[in-house]
Amino acid sequence: MDQQDIWKQHTKGLTPEDLLKRINKPAQFQIELNDFLGKIIKDNNYKDLIEVGCEAGTSSTMLDKNLNITLLDLNEDILRLDEEAYKNVYPNFKYCQADMFNMPFQDESFDMVFNAGVIEHFDIEERTRAIKEYWRVLKKGGTMVIAFPNHYSLPYRFAYLIRTITKKWIFPPENKMYNLKKELQVNGIDGLQRIVLSKASIFNWNNYSPFINKCFKLLDKVFNFEGYLTVIWVKKNDHL
Ligand SMILES: C[S@@+](CC[C@H](N)C(=O)[O-])C[C@H]1O[C@@H](n2cnc3c(N)ncnc32)[C@H](O)[C@@H]1O
Repeated sequence: MDQQDIWKQHTKGLTPEDLLKRINKPAQFQIELNDFLGKIIKDNNYKDLIEVGCEAGTSSTMLDKNLNITLLDLNEDILRLDEEAYKNVYPNFKYCQADMFNMPFQDESFDMVFNAGVIEHFDIEERTRAIKEYWRVLKKGGTMVIAFPNHYSLPYRFAYLIRTITKKWIFPPENKMYNLKKELQVNGIDGLQRIVLSKASIFNWNNYSPFINKCFKLLDKVFNFEGYLTVIWVKKNDHL
């Protein structure tokens, strides 16, 4: 199965009501990511945003309703579902079925280009091309934010490997990435910043074994593992 088939499988059978229910029950990492994005948006007075590889667009639904947010995904089924679910609740959302490597927008169209849980499914060459395209559609003064699971946090890495080996990993394979420094450098982008969010989530992934989880919680007292979600961001200001 290729990546798109896996994503389609993952969201098959969902109804607009399911998506609306999700809004009321965001995951911890989504709550923390939302706080992070909200602060950047407010501090910079941003208005035009795009979530690239939005799937259910959960992050976008948690932001200020007055923002102009474009939800972009390659999967036309999920976009149709998003539109049906959100058309009355988020009248400012726009929907775009497109490939993130070739987005149908002019240069410098958005104040913020962001995504979560997308880039780790691509190899370094693809990530470099994706970032080039994100950067192209970003306005000067805008911010690019890319969030991905932190395979440098041992409990998460362990859960991923166990779930992969036992064939219980239901998403496309993930690459281990620290901060996308190389991908940005190749594109001539500097000013990279990195934080890690959602410490609590690293223990959720080992919930198949309370014993393993207990061990990791003890080890954490010594090693202080990083959280689940790595977030890197770069402001285009630095490049004026
Ligand atoms: C893990 S999901 C994103 C989840 C979402 N960030 C959320 O919080 O609900 C990854 C999404 O990226 C989309 N995707 C994968 N490759 C893509 C591409 N080349 N262009 C656009 N979207 C893509 C998939 O269709 C899928 O919906």
